[in-house]
Amino acid sequence: MGAAELILGQTLAFAGDPFTKGPAAARYERRGAVLVEGGRIAATGPADALRAAHPAARVTEMGEALLTAGFIDAHAHYPQTGIIASWGKRLIDWLNGYTFPEEARFGDAAYAAGAAGRYLDLLIGHGTTTVASFCTSHPESVDAFFEAAVARGMRVAGGKTCMDRNAPEALCDTAQRAHDESAALIARWHGRGRAVYAISPRFAPTSTPEQLDALGALWAEHPTCLVQTHLSEQEDEVEWVHDLYPEARDYLDTYERAGLLGPGAVFGHAIHLAGRERLRLKESGAAIAHCPTSNSFIGSGLFDLEGLIAEGQRVGLATDTGGGSSFSMLRTMAAAYEIAQLRGFAPHPAQLYWLATVGAARALRMERQIGNLAKGLEADLIALDLASTPAIAQRAARAGDIWEALFPTIMMGDDRAIAGVWVNGVRQGAA
Ligand code: GUN
Ligand code: ZN
Repeated sequence: MGAAELILGQTLAFAGDPFTKGPAAARYERRGAVLVEGGRIAATGPADALRAAHPAARVTEMGEALLTAGFIDAHAHYPQTGIIASWGKRLIDWLNGYTFPEEARFGDAAYAAGAAGRYLDLLIGHGTTTVASFCTSHPESVDAFFEAAVARGMRVAGGKTCMDRNAPEALCDTAQRAHDESAALIARWHGRGRAVYAISPRFAPTSTPEQLDALGALWAEHPTCLVQTHLSEQEDEVEWVHDLYPEARDYLDTYERAGLLGPGAVFGHAIHLAGRERLRLKESGAAIAHCPTSNSFIGSGLFDLEGLIAEGQRVGLATDTGGGSSFSMLRTMAAAYEIAQLRGFAPHPAQLYWLATVGAARALRMERQIGNLAKGLEADLIALDLASTPAIAQRAARAGDIWEALFPTIMMGDDRAIAGVWVNGVRQGAA
């Protein structure tokens, strides 16, 4: 890595959890700075003090932009990039009609490589520096994803989507193949550079109990891997799971009895939960990826953000593209706000921003590496333009504090608000 870079702007970080401490958990500097060295954050603080202490550092002036950690998307499907915003269906028909035909193309390594590169470039353009993504059932799609991430220096999690029933033949593996192909991919990718492998049964309806057992055994052999799957997204899906798994106490139990519940397990959606499921999710240390644009786009329901967080549940924010309708974590924060409002809760901008950074990092067990502006963390940063469109600018101009200045960008912002992105300390797209 080159010499130290001192980035100047407004800065926003978190010293605690704004759901328990309120906005006072945030650390805001009107004229702040981030010192980046060797791919890490070497210091943060007031600009004048850091300039004086590091006179040899190269200075990057970001003006009025707000410097924060890069966004972290805790649940997405990169192979669905090409079918995002597909009209008119709910979950199971959407999977059969749009998703599976597209995912079937990813056995072609060149197609997968093109899609993976395009996807990660879109993410960087939207200020997302880390994602946990499903791939397809083809190992080639996993190689393409991690190779694209290595080429961009990104910390990502991903894994082969395992399915051995209720999906097209061409996308199905078996219990044994799911285990063996996942094991080979773990050996190839897990812990290589910034890559984290996520053991990825798609969801209980497309796995036999034997396949879930095989993947639970694999996780026991590789406990530093994540597990990612889907849970209780739509009501007819929950009923289907009851029919497919008559022996299970509930949907979560299909995973729990297979050894797929615990710290490092990340469950997408988790909208229609029974009391036992809420309790076990929390007790076990598992995380929920809240996917609000997906939940409204596919018509899934209203996630209980306030209640689950009050119970101590670990929650991170996620797009769930292409079920989700946006790559932007700003748009995703806005959707989380709107869904919470429909349940009578107005999350504070500090809470929304935390869910898309620190909260998502915690969901992925990466909070000691990324998700905040703090000394020693990896330097994945963004600079946000808080006046990126005339509509946002005219509202932000009336702001009395940083939260009023930030909230219009949360509600109305998109990739035009991303004025700079640093991945592992390297500015993206800079000449
Ligand atoms: N449930 C199982 N697979 C999927 C998927 O690809 N997207 C969404 N939103 N839900 C799922
Ligand atoms: Zn999903």
